[in-house]
Amino acid sequence: MEHFKSPFVASDFSTPEALQNQRFFDEELARARTHAFFTHPFLASPGKLVVSRETTAIVLTSFYKIVAPFTGLLCSLGGRSPDLRTRFALMDNLYEEMGCGDLGSAHPSLYLRMLASIGVSEAAAEAAPTLPAIRRINEHLEEVVKTEPFAVACAVLASAEATIPSSFPVLAALAKSAFPGVDSTFFDRHGPRDEGHSEDAAVLFALSAKGSMFPRVTEHVQRDLALRVELFDEWLWAMTSVAQPRTAPSQRPSHLPPRSARPTTAHPSVPV
Ligand SMILES: [Fe+2]
Repeated sequence: MEHFKSPFVASDFSTPEALQNQRFFDEELARARTHAFFTHPFLASPGKLVVSRETTAIVLTSFYKIVAPFTGLLCSLGGRSPDLRTRFALMDNLYEEMGCGDLGSAHPSLYLRMLASIGVSEAAAEAAPTLPAIRRINEHLEEVVKTEPFAVACAVLASAEATIPSSFPVLAALAKSAFPGVDSTFFDRHGPRDEGHSEDAAVLFALSAKGSMFPRVTEHVQRDLALRVELFDEWLWAMTSVAQPRTAPSQRPSHLPPRSARPTTAHPSVPV
């Protein structure tokens, strides 16, 4: 925990259940790190692709739709905490997201400041269409937070936070390359800090999970990563399709990277 004093003591982690949960989740995160997300070509794109300012602005604007609702999801998750200590620990992450008490430094505010510095107004960011992959990521997270046990949602949060150190530097590099004067405060607030958020969420999982929840954790962690791969596909497609009309999937130009495999279990309410 970065801002708050940890409400936990060493003996909390030494119960047989906490140890079993911790072992499972260490393996789960190790498995997650072998997911196609972490070797997706999008992550290697800085320096390999010259991306126009217009396309870069589109990519960065689209991501606002993930940044904007995240504090709300954390608040919902906090409301489902089984006790005061777990809620308190989760609030450390939320406090960081909320700019440590300064609204202008709340992460959505910092993201809008970054967009403003590349010429995208708040109104334009709000009005921009939500990419299908982003809609699915958000719907899935909302489903997990609202319908799964608190511990399962903490596991997905830990996994999602663990993707940030790999992906945000790529967005920052794209932004810097196309817009050298970009306000990068948002990106500066991310990276190693999110590894801490991931570890904190993993602790909450270890202290509140039951063995019967393990299969649900695997299912949701893998689905979240698969949806993030879809988003990388969308972005990479946009970045490599400059000056070409967007075509239907069946007409996908042969020089473009193949689309990554889609998740096997579709969200029941989302058409695929
Ligand atoms: Fe974070």
